[in-house]
Formats: sequence, structure tokens, C-alpha cells
Amino acid sequence: MAEDDCNRWIKPIYLLNNNNVTKICAPMVRYSKLGFRTLVRKYGCDLAYTPMTICDSFIKSQKARDSEFTTNKTDRPLIVQFAARNAEELAEAAEIVVPFADGVGLNCGCPQKWAVSSGYGACLLKKPELLADMVRQVKSRVPDDFTMSVKIRLHSHLRTTVDMCQKAEHAGAAWVAVHGRRADQRTEPVELEAIKQIKDSLGIPVVANGDIKSLADIRMVKEATGVNGVMVARGLLENPAMFAGYDYTPLECIRDWVDISMSTGTPFQTFHHHLIEMLQCNLSSAERRIFNSLTSTSATIDYVEEHFGA
Ligand SMILES: Cc1cc2nc3c(=O)[nH]c(=O)nc-3n(C[C@H](O)[C@H](O)[C@H](O)COP(=O)(O)O)c2cc1C
Repeated sequence: MAEDDCNRWIKPIYLLNNNNVTKICAPMVRYSKLGFRTLVRKYGCDLAYTPMTICDSFIKSQKARDSEFTTNKTDRPLIVQFAARNAEELAEAAEIVVPFADGVGLNCGCPQKWAVSSGYGACLLKKPELLADMVRQVKSRVPDDFTMSVKIRLHSHLRTTVDMCQKAEHAGAAWVAVHGRRADQRTEPVELEAIKQIKDSLGIPVVANGDIKSLADIRMVKEATGVNGVMVARGLLENPAMFAGYDYTPLECIRDWVDISMSTGTPFQTFHHHLIEMLQCNLSSAERRIFNSLTSTSATIDYVEEHFGA
């Protein structure tokens, strides 16, 4: 990558330390890939995460790297999210992505059984010393401005969460993204007060995550917690233009998705699935049934052109 390319975007740590709320596209397995990141960046997203990638296959196999991680020079600022269970493999994976990204994020929140039982994701919430060691080892092997951040869920006791975050901060974490639920919670309300307490206890930036669906939600979360950034997953799947202030996915954004998908060779399933999410509010349930059952890119484009002139 040419040197001038490196100066065209603001590094995440400066973004998170300015006075605006940094708007972040969350890591989403299968969904926060290059095409979708390109789309949300066009509509006000300041910083985007890749989907979670398991470290050990990433470091061992070129094939895994090629299939899991695609980017280009406009795809910045970018955080590559990893699932890891030891510091050595995470540091090795971080070194590999240094030329292509602005930092790595460690997944400490994935509550799925397979992840926790294999030592990944929310399992790390119970191992604050290991977590701190992971942060330390990554920091010792990457350039200073390449960030190491963590994405967590809450413990039952707030003090435990705060202690863990402080350990991560002292080890060199650049920020903490907090999904304001415990690992065993799914639909319970997000605990904004806990996010505020974490924010008040740390010197590094804190990012709030969970149930943010509009600019009004962002303002409310900022006011309630004082966080430096907000991270959105499902809200952006439904409406990738949310950060630009749209209440529903505008037609223009659907056109952009078709164009981006065609130019990046997005596989049919990904192309179609994103449209299913984006069109939720634009189709009746009968129309949705027909749209969801389409099986080819050409049939999907025909449908969209016919119904929306896109
Ligand atoms: C389809 C999907 C995939 C996800 N994949 C990841 C992932 O790869 N890594 C991660 O840390 N969280 C993942 N999550 C969790 C989200 O990043 C986020 O923490 C959660 O959905 C709450 O935010 P939301 O209310 O904005 O959706 C995923 C969520 C969804 C809906």
C-alpha cells in the first residue's frame, strides 16, 4: 500500500478521542464483510469491524485467510475481530493483519455454546489475567498506532466487569466495546447504567453496544452513558443508512447494495440475505414470502427492479 493511502483516513484512536460519537459497524459473522462495510461507510459509518475470525485457522492456513478476510484500500479505518484462546496465537494473527487494518479486536462476548466450551468468546470474561496477557502480547508485536481493543459482555457483578476492564486498560487496550448484557441474556434491556459505570472507571474510550436503532437512540445512549462511540449490528442490517439519519433503508441504499454486490462478486446468499433484512419494512408479508424464496441473483435483481425501480 502506498504511503499516501495511509493518510486518507483518521485512525480509530483519534476518532474515539474527539468530541463526536464515533459510529461503528459491529462485527457480524457472515455479514460485516467487505461489501457491507463499503455500503455502511457510504452512509456515515466511521469505523467498521470484520466478522469474528478464529485465530488458529487464520494463522495456520492461507486458504482460511483468503476466504475469511477480504479488504481493499478504501476499507478503512478497519478493525479485524478475532476469537482467540491464547496470547501467542492472537499476537501472531495481529502481526499478519497489520498492513491491512488499523487494529485488532478480541471477541470476549460470544455466548454460543461451541465458543465458550472451546475457550473462546465469553469464556474470556472469566479469565481477566489471560485477557490482559493477550492485550500485552499483541501490543508488544505491533506498531504503536495499531490498536488492540476488546469487546465484552457484562458479569453479574459490575465490580468484576470494571476490574477486568481496568486490567485490560493497564495492559494497553485502546478501548473497550461493551454489549450491555450478560452472556446468558438475549432480549433483556441493555444495562446503560453499567456501561456508564465502566465509562466512568476507565481512562480509555468506551463504546456502547446493544439495541441502537436510530440517531435518536445514539443521542439517548450518549446522554445516559457519556461513551465515546456506539456500535450497531442489527440496526445496520435492517437499515444500513441509519448512521446517516434515515429511519428506513432508502431506495438509493438498495441500489448501492446491488451495485456494490455486483462489483465485488458478492455470493448470492449474502447478497439476498442483506436485501431480505433491508426490505423488511418495504414488503408486505405475502411479498416477503416470494422475495425470500428467490434462488438466484438475476431473479433477485429483477424483483427489486420491478418493485422498486432500483
Ligand atoms: C448476524 C450477527 C452476527 C454477529 N457476529 C458477531 C461477531 O462476529 N462478533 C461479535 O463480537 N459479535 C457478533 N454479533 C453480536 C453483535 O456484534 C452485537 O454485539 C449484538 O448483536 C448486539 O448489538 P445490536 O443490538 O446492535 O444487534 C453478531 C450479531 C449478529 C446479529
